[in-house]
Amino acid sequence: MATVAARDTETSLGKTDRRDNWWAGPLATIIVLSGFGIYATFRAVYAQDYELGHGARVNQILPEHAYLLSPFFSPLILLPGMPAWFSPAFLILWAPGGFRLTCYYYRKAYYRAYFGDPPGCAVGEVKSGRYMGETGLFIFQNLHRFFLYVAILFILMLAVDVIHACLWPTTGGGITLGASVGTIVLAVNVVCLSLYTFSCHSLRHLVGGNIDCFSCVAFGQTRHKLWKGVSKLNKNHMLWAWCSLFTVGFADFYVWLVASQTIIDVRLF
Ligand code: FES
Repeated sequence: MATVAARDTETSLGKTDRRDNWWAGPLATIIVLSGFGIYATFRAVYAQDYELGHGARVNQILPEHAYLLSPFFSPLILLPGMPAWFSPAFLILWAPGGFRLTCYYYRKAYYRAYFGDPPGCAVGEVKSGRYMGETGLFIFQNLHRFFLYVAILFILMLAVDVIHACLWPTTGGGITLGASVGTIVLAVNVVCLSLYTFSCHSLRHLVGGNIDCFSCVAFGQTRHKLWKGVSKLNKNHMLWAWCSLFTVGFADFYVWLVASQTIIDVRLF
């Protein structure tokens, strides 16, 4: 009887017997993802005030500051003969963008939010015929594991940016260790992006999948430990996905404010 009742309510988009605010999640997803997409696109096209400090290659502002680089532009690639209208962010953002677009969690979130397919559990969906899985137009979703490899490289490069943000030029032309609020902002971003990346479902499969017995394969014990670690992080993959989206956007925004001299980046030590 329960099956029949559920079928009756799932015949048109949004129809349901659910009494909870099931629409709140998809609505929040639309607001946050659309807002982030608009902001990131604007910053990529605007392509100014994305770095500052010692070693800044575009704007030699605050030369006495440690080098800060927005994660949207890291690693900074300035090719010779690159036209002025071409933003270096275009060479970067395809990778983290593709990683999130093909993420198993985000897929669920934006399929529900943007396509209503379905909008929620036991909620009527857009009638689109047979479910095709990751085929046809969506075959690119199978690239997720390759985006993962690139994302891990990006984590390493963003960690190098944090090190740069700790190296402060001295008046004598040397270097001293230090940290500012900007250093902390970049470091927190790397931690959150790492938690998101290393909790990936594909990584979990990479380290622990495709085998029946850990003790029967080479490096079995190591793989088992890695698999347990990734599995632990994986439980909160959704949380890391949203936290890291916020921190990467905020890190760019903070660098923008400091590089445009709207605010002063306070040195802590
Ligand atoms: S499943 Fe979300 S990043 Fe891989």
